[in-house]
Amino acid sequence: MFAIPCAAAALVFSSFAAPVTAVSYSLTDNYVGQSLLDAFSYMAIDDPTHGRVKYVDKATAVANNLTFASNDRAVLRADSTKVLNPAGVGRDSVRLQSNKEFSTGVTVFDIRHMPQGCGTWPAVWTYAEPWPNVGEVDILEGVNDMPYNHATLHTLPGCAMPASGRNMTGVSVQDNCDWTINGNAGCGVEIRNPASYGPPFNAAGGGWYAFERTTAFIKVWFWSRNDASVPAEVRAGSATVNTDSWGTPVAYFGNTLCDIPRFFGNHRIIINLTFCGDWAGSVYGNYPACPGTCVDYVNNNPAAFTEAYFDFGFIKHYD
Ligand SMILES: *[C@@H]1O[C@H](CO)[C@@H](O)[C@H](O)[C@H]1NC(C)=O
Ligand SMILES: *[C@@H]1O[C@H](CO)[C@@H](O)[C@H](O)[C@H]1NC(C)=O
Ligand SMILES: *[C@@H]1O[C@H](CO)[C@@H](O)[C@H](O)[C@H]1NC(C)=O
Repeated sequence: MFAIPCAAAALVFSSFAAPVTAVSYSLTDNYVGQSLLDAFSYMAIDDPTHGRVKYVDKATAVANNLTFASNDRAVLRADSTKVLNPAGVGRDSVRLQSNKEFSTGVTVFDIRHMPQGCGTWPAVWTYAEPWPNVGEVDILEGVNDMPYNHATLHTLPGCAMPASGRNMTGVSVQDNCDWTINGNAGCGVEIRNPASYGPPFNAAGGGWYAFERTTAFIKVWFWSRNDASVPAEVRAGSATVNTDSWGTPVAYFGNTLCDIPRFFGNHRIIINLTFCGDWAGSVYGNYPACPGTCVDYVNNNPAAFTEAYFDFGFIKHYD
């Protein structure tokens, strides 16, 4: 008896409750070419994930052309010239950290090329010290030319994602974001589009990654360079964007089982490229295309890393 009137009432209510004003964001930070490199600090630190890497300082990076800027390009690369002494330090590379901290808003990355190759472990992500108290958001990360990108959150205990009902095109591989379980795998979403990562990403001319963070959710989008569905405002890097028009995200992290503002604080953007280590090294043997051991490969085959570079068109943040 009640079912029909209640459903009718709910429909009427929801049509009144539906948002009528779109959320529009305005450009606050526009990093292109040299201004992109200038907005970041070079972190010449030991890789906390034990990679076969030597993160160099700015002077070394510029002198060796490991970072390079032109009007519309910012390139970050690893060394592809040196055979390494097995008893010495790892392969030269860079780890950049944004000088500014961000919280809510939208960030768009126009990426023409990302590092590829056996042993590589590139990442574009956000976090702040002390990890993991204010959370970590991984936008683009993978190892050894794996088939797909993973977008992943890592948090203190108490943040999880529901097993079903998430409006996204990617596939959840872990639902609990708690860093203390599953070997700190985090709550990852696999972006089941080959163009989302590695050689196919590069073959297509890269594309755009974007994420939106509010107090209620974190959404990630990806469009390959030639996708018809890329919003014109993303392609153009417009002064305002409206994510309501962007379609279903590749990854959706909502707040039904995670109080987003409690687990995510102000973050810096990090761009880094390491080799082997806790992830790329530990699963290296699962990649038949990757010869020998990871560390030997990285030590002895500099020319294998000529494609181990990021080429950014821009990074833009909107609030
Ligand atoms: C530095 O790298 C850029 C980007 O890959 C390249 O275009 C340029 O020729 C390089 N410069 C030198 C001196 O090798
Ligand atoms: C980058 O550094 C962070 C730690 O600071 C680490 O968690 C991440 O795995 C590193 N990734 C790469 C690609 O170096
Ligand atoms: C999922 O999100 C898209 C894009 O915002 C929207 O058009 C669609 O109606 C949503 N689907 C569901 C089941 O909520």
